[in-house]
Amino acid sequence: MRLFTAVTALCGLLLPSSVVCADERVAAISEFNPPQVFKNTNLVRHTNLEKGYVRETVNVVVENVGKQPQSDYYLPFSSDVFDKVGSLEVRDKKAVEKGRFNVEAVELDFRSDLEYFVIHFPEPLAPKSQITLGISYTLLNSLNPRPATIEQSDRQFLSYSFSGFTISAYPTVTQKTKLKFPSTKVPDFTVTEGLKTSSGSDPERQGATFTYGPYDTSKVAPGTTYPITVRYEFTNPIITASLLERDLEVSHWGGNLATEERYWLRNNGSELTSQFSRVEWTISSYQNLPSSALRELKYPLKAGSVDPYFIDDVGNVSTSRYRPGKPNRDAHLELRFRYPIFGGWNYSFRIGWNNDLASFLRRAVTGADSYVLKVPFIEGPKAPEGAQYENVVVRLILPEGSRNVKYELVEGSASNGLPGPNQIRSHLSDYKTYMDTLGRTVLTLEAENLSDEARDSQLVVTYDYTLLDGLRKPFTITAGLLAVFAAAWFIGNIDVSIRKR
Ligand SMILES: *[C@@H]1O[C@H](CO)[C@@H](O)[C@H](O)[C@H]1NC(C)=O
Ligand SMILES: *[C@@H]1O[C@H](CO)[C@@H](O)[C@H](O)[C@H]1NC(C)=O
Ligand SMILES: *[C@@H]1O[C@H](CO)[C@@H](O)[C@H](O)[C@H]1NC(C)=O
Ligand SMILES: *[C@@H]1O[C@H](CO)[C@@H](O)[C@H](O)[C@H]1NC(C)=O
Repeated sequence: MRLFTAVTALCGLLLPSSVVCADERVAAISEFNPPQVFKNTNLVRHTNLEKGYVRETVNVVVENVGKQPQSDYYLPFSSDVFDKVGSLEVRDKKAVEKGRFNVEAVELDFRSDLEYFVIHFPEPLAPKSQITLGISYTLLNSLNPRPATIEQSDRQFLSYSFSGFTISAYPTVTQKTKLKFPSTKVPDFTVTEGLKTSSGSDPERQGATFTYGPYDTSKVAPGTTYPITVRYEFTNPIITASLLERDLEVSHWGGNLATEERYWLRNNGSELTSQFSRVEWTISSYQNLPSSALRELKYPLKAGSVDPYFIDDVGNVSTSRYRPGKPNRDAHLELRFRYPIFGGWNYSFRIGWNNDLASFLRRAVTGADSYVLKVPFIEGPKAPEGAQYENVVVRLILPEGSRNVKYELVEGSASNGLPGPNQIRSHLSDYKTYMDTLGRTVLTLEAENLSDEARDSQLVVTYDYTLLDGLRKPFTITAGLLAVFAAAWFIGNIDVSIRKR
């Protein structure tokens, strides 16, 4: 924070006593207070716990209580939660089609209990006017298995802790939180006393939905927390990819789009108390009992996908099945693992398949040598419990000689599960394989902390590629072959026979 640095410098210059100065500095830099120019007139938070990660949507009516038009709204999280926020997206709830707002993380150069994002409104909000923000995000790795270890045939329970008062930088007049559980089995939860404005129990239960609030928090200082913990049954694995590497290779010459994905998976659920028993496992799978172990994944593929493979550290996994699907319907790859993956266990593998390039590539209207490619950014398995991705690296390998590469991640009116463009790192590089002269152009995109909601978000890439570039490869091969013939001819003419002396 430049401001604080300035204060410190001033302090060093003007004040003779260094002791006073040090104290002042500590006081000055341990806090960051956004200007108090807004009021949240009503806030409703929806917390969804149906998957292996937390998904929250906060709808908040914001009023400008300042004297000037304002366009920066600060969004705080406690610092232990801040790093776990993924796919943060903010829109005007009353005009979602206008697209997402620009959001940035605020860099604080000191430790603080709260860390902030700043939401930039596209147009300043006039004094006394209101805007309804729809703020949505995921929280990865934020659930705790309770108990932490279980027996092989036990049911898994997760606990989730949060503040009943949504943390905000501004006063909030009324607020409530709705929690959606995977089932009605919620054995433990915090019950509040005397907090709620209306009569009735807090939380109010309705099947698998709990409502905390409404609370009148107009007199409560912003940043005040009220701890709430819930514990619920979650019989599914917590599918976590610590890394997904996805390669898409475009071949104009072969008319092919080849995809290969490498997964480093972990089940982040309850660990086993005792040794794994194969016999017990066979019996329980025979009885079809629910288990928090991961035994298979269903992977939908685009219609027309061919030559799928599934290879792990041991080799070809022959227990997988592929259903090619009807025309224009998704195909299905069923990945059955060699052994069940319990909490704390890892499993890495790679899968791949081919597609006809024609269904992804178009010639651009701007010129005969310009192309537009539209491919899914990530695909990944589809499971009711969802999947979280800590690191994703997507590499698009374009033909040799491709130029003017530009990309865009397509936005719809709803969330595409991706973070804002400024949080996706990209770079271009060259990649040389056998017989390449220039090396192929590779576009690499890296993102962190995604969820399976990013499935099917589209990556659109435009590039230039001329006929001459297309001929380069066969030309190289021909030239290569000629060189071999010439060499063979030349070698053939050398007398290598062992002469008699
Ligand atoms: C993603 O999560 C990790 C671990 O929680 C964190 O260190 C990292 O800063 C996060 N990245 C982003 C871009 O939020
Ligand atoms: C997942 O892993 C993280 C550490 O990476 C841990 O903090 C968290 O509690 C784990 N469990 C769940 C269910 O998210
Ligand atoms: C790998 O296993 C599949 C069965 O899922 C089989 O069809 C395929 O031929 C195997 N591939 C190799 C190279 O052994
Ligand atoms: C699983 O992989 C993680 C890294 O992703 C590693 O830290 C951990 O030790 C591995 N666990 C086991 C049981 O091999």
